[in-house]
Amino acid sequence: MPATVIVGAQWGDEGKGKIVDLLALDSDLVCRYQGGPNAGHTIVVDGETFKIRQIPSGVLRGKICVIGAGCVVDPEVFLTEVDELESRGVSTHLVHLSGEAHLIMAWHVAIDQASERRLGKLQIGTTRRGIGPCYADKAARLGIRVQDLLEPKILRQKIEVALAEKNVWLERVYGVPPLGLEEIAAQLESFAQRIRPYVSDTSLLVDRALQEGRAVLLEGAQGTLLDLDHGTYPFVTSSNTVAGNAATGIGIGPNRIDRVIGIAKAYVTRVGEGPFPTEIEGSDQGRVRELGGEFGTVTGRERRCGWLDLVALRYAVRVNGITSLALTKLDVLSAFAELPVCIAYLQRDGSETRHFPAHQSDFHHARPVWKALPGWEQPLDDASSREGLPDAARAYVEFVEQELEVPVELVGVGAARERVLV
Ligand code: GDP
Ligand code: IMO
Ligand code: MG
Repeated sequence: MPATVIVGAQWGDEGKGKIVDLLALDSDLVCRYQGGPNAGHTIVVDGETFKIRQIPSGVLRGKICVIGAGCVVDPEVFLTEVDELESRGVSTHLVHLSGEAHLIMAWHVAIDQASERRLGKLQIGTTRRGIGPCYADKAARLGIRVQDLLEPKILRQKIEVALAEKNVWLERVYGVPPLGLEEIAAQLESFAQRIRPYVSDTSLLVDRALQEGRAVLLEGAQGTLLDLDHGTYPFVTSSNTVAGNAATGIGIGPNRIDRVIGIAKAYVTRVGEGPFPTEIEGSDQGRVRELGGEFGTVTGRERRCGWLDLVALRYAVRVNGITSLALTKLDVLSAFAELPVCIAYLQRDGSETRHFPAHQSDFHHARPVWKALPGWEQPLDDASSREGLPDAARAYVEFVEQELEVPVELVGVGAARERVLV
């Protein structure tokens, strides 16, 4: 049985959580392959809202959930999430945490915050959850991993070594107070007691499940354009979000994956800084934001809103090998008489391209070439299948399919769990 990757095809917040929650119904395992508590997935179940950051969205369906080696884990956020889910009747006893995943330490959060402040106008607009500094230490081989929690002596030693260096940075470079060794060690030891039962050999677990013919979902966080290598660097996150990293992030072979579902909004949003060619000018941006509830799950920040960008989406199809799309939040567009869609970029030399510019300055200067599609100006509440959509809404979805040469498998028409047309 092959594995399916669910990947964000834009700048994050495409509605991955909700689609994973739907597809989890027919899956046995749901695995996160990268990212950490910078992610925020909102899922609405019977009018109740769940906001999940660290644990895969499949937890709400009672599935086996895996946090893979490619993830970064804030132990405090993880345990708070465990407590919150348990207190709301959602069991976490099927959650498995890779011992190879890296821990977000107090200094990572402190450095993320201090470094953004220092950058001032040049800031990236991170979620300030310590993601970048944690992945940087992983690459520098200074990181502390989940499995270190199982060995108190090693843990203490690693904290000592790392903190000695980090405190120099905090005090001398960023001018903020240093962190106390005893306090951090004691806190981590108490977290360790509670995290221990969740730690597993997740690579083995997933491989066995695949061998036994079970259905496995590999869930990405963030989105393609936030990918460290293929996104809009430096305004990206610090991990590889693309589907290719799903195998690495879990520890299975790439030949296990044969389906890649890209999740895209029927428009686009972006949180944080960085170029955004189809960002809406004028009052329509605020309208989309209000109608779509476009405020960050993690930080509460206003999300920047833009019209659908098919150049960027075509790029996402390419770099992920997307085999089908889920187009979410189509209902949000019901208010507009006309819907501009970006079909190409006008470049500095006056030529047009349908391919995402490889050079940052070309992307920065790219201007959208619009095609105006007719709106439907009626709610989509009555549609229970794609055929039941108003003509113009159906045509909107078909236009995306034709332009990208990829089928749209699912259409989101509301926040509630069941509001997806299959
Ligand atoms: P994720 O990070 O990709 O999981 O997405 P978020 O949860 O951060 O943001 C998506 C938001 O849109 C959430 O508030 C969802 O409840 C909501 N949502 C998802 N799909 C739909 C849809 O089809 N229509 C509407 N109106 N809202 C949706
Ligand atoms: P989900 O999984 C949207 C953005 C931040 C910032 C950049 C770097 O909910 O789609 P980081 O804290 O990762 O170093 O921030 O990435 N960002 C997201 N934007 N959705 C997310 O996750 C995001 N995670 C990070 O706003 O621009
Ligand atoms: Mg989100």
